[in-house]
Amino acid sequence: MSTQQQETVVEEQKVQQPTEGEQEDQVKPSSVNPYEVGENVDYDKLISEFGCSKIDQSLIDRVEKLTGKKAHPFLTREIFFSHRDLNLILDNYEKGIPFYLYTGRGPSTESMHLGHLMPFIFTKYLQDAFDVPLVIQLTDDEKFFHKGDFTLEEYQKLAIENAKDIIACGFDIEKTFIFRNTDYVGHMYPNICKIQKAVTYNQLKGIFGVTPSDNCGKFAFPAVQAAPAISTSFPHIFGNKNVFCLIPQGIDQDPYFRMTRDVQYKLKVPKTACIHSKFFPSLQGFGTKMGSTVPNSAIFLTDTPKQIKEKINKSVSGGRATKEEQEQFGADLTVDIPYHYLRFFLEDDARLEEIRVKYSTGKMLTGEVKKELIGILQKIIGDHQEKRKAITNDKVLEYMKIRPLKFKTPQNQLEA
Ligand code: TRP
Repeated sequence: MSTQQQETVVEEQKVQQPTEGEQEDQVKPSSVNPYEVGENVDYDKLISEFGCSKIDQSLIDRVEKLTGKKAHPFLTREIFFSHRDLNLILDNYEKGIPFYLYTGRGPSTESMHLGHLMPFIFTKYLQDAFDVPLVIQLTDDEKFFHKGDFTLEEYQKLAIENAKDIIACGFDIEKTFIFRNTDYVGHMYPNICKIQKAVTYNQLKGIFGVTPSDNCGKFAFPAVQAAPAISTSFPHIFGNKNVFCLIPQGIDQDPYFRMTRDVQYKLKVPKTACIHSKFFPSLQGFGTKMGSTVPNSAIFLTDTPKQIKEKINKSVSGGRATKEEQEQFGADLTVDIPYHYLRFFLEDDARLEEIRVKYSTGKMLTGEVKKELIGILQKIIGDHQEKRKAITNDKVLEYMKIRPLKFKTPQNQLEA
């Protein structure tokens, strides 16, 4: 991109800056935050509590039109259901103004499960569909400050192991930069300083519930998660240009980016856009937590076909106690985990609808639904394991190398 065009980009972004009145993105503690997830989440309530917007059909239509691709099922099935300023990202993209994607992972365990993969599957779709660069933050520092089950050196190693699972999702190395905070943070330090100066203890207390007896790492960390949403944190990719950022994330991460957007407003850089997902339910039912310490709560990326089969067969279902009752009343899909998992992982819309209708009216039994899901998950996990096996430590280092990324923004396409 020529310098002149870059200038135009920055100019236009200034125009897009929010006015004073927009500054009051709601900042208040919630039962859903990065460190605690309330039970049986009411997502509509969360949207209004957080001050986000629902992703509606017209926005999905625009995404399809601009990318020339069918929207990902996670969008059409309201799994990614909420956003901040996604419409602005699309307005700009339409005009040839580029953006980049930013997402991350806190490496708290080696045993990642299906739910952990979800944001990455979706991010991969966004990267391919919009043809944009992507940065992925591995927060070994965050888990060290907040969990402390392991030493810092162990969290550093976990970050590399998790990176292998992330890379196995198929990210294009020419467009993807993965970084581990304990290595990379120095490059972002000027932005981290500016962010830290713009946030007070009272704000942190309001957003994250930190207390005076918490270790200082917990106070310092939010600025480190915020910094990648400012493009100048990656001079090797964006030089000193302000580029718009879109962050796919679980809705529990929104408090970080509410804080980030307030700070960006103060620093006069573009406010980041966000796209939020719902939580992935545990096998043991909605409102229960998936965890690496509860083996039957989740499908892990290392599970064997037999384990997958056994876990799904034991999962909580909304089917009735007997075949007769099932045929008479049909399954209660609101509590049925196998059906819900199919909504995530059965791509065929027509088949999903057929199952919904038949299962809820008693024309299909729980066992049949579970069987179909087992087949799908065995394939997804099996494929993932194959791909992950091929990813060496050296491969991870290639993704983590500080280098320019190759990507074709719409702006570049106009130039060509
Ligand atoms: N805090 C996140 C976690 O615990 C990791 C993370 C860092 C992240 N940056 C992000 C998640 C950006 C989503 C988007 O998993």
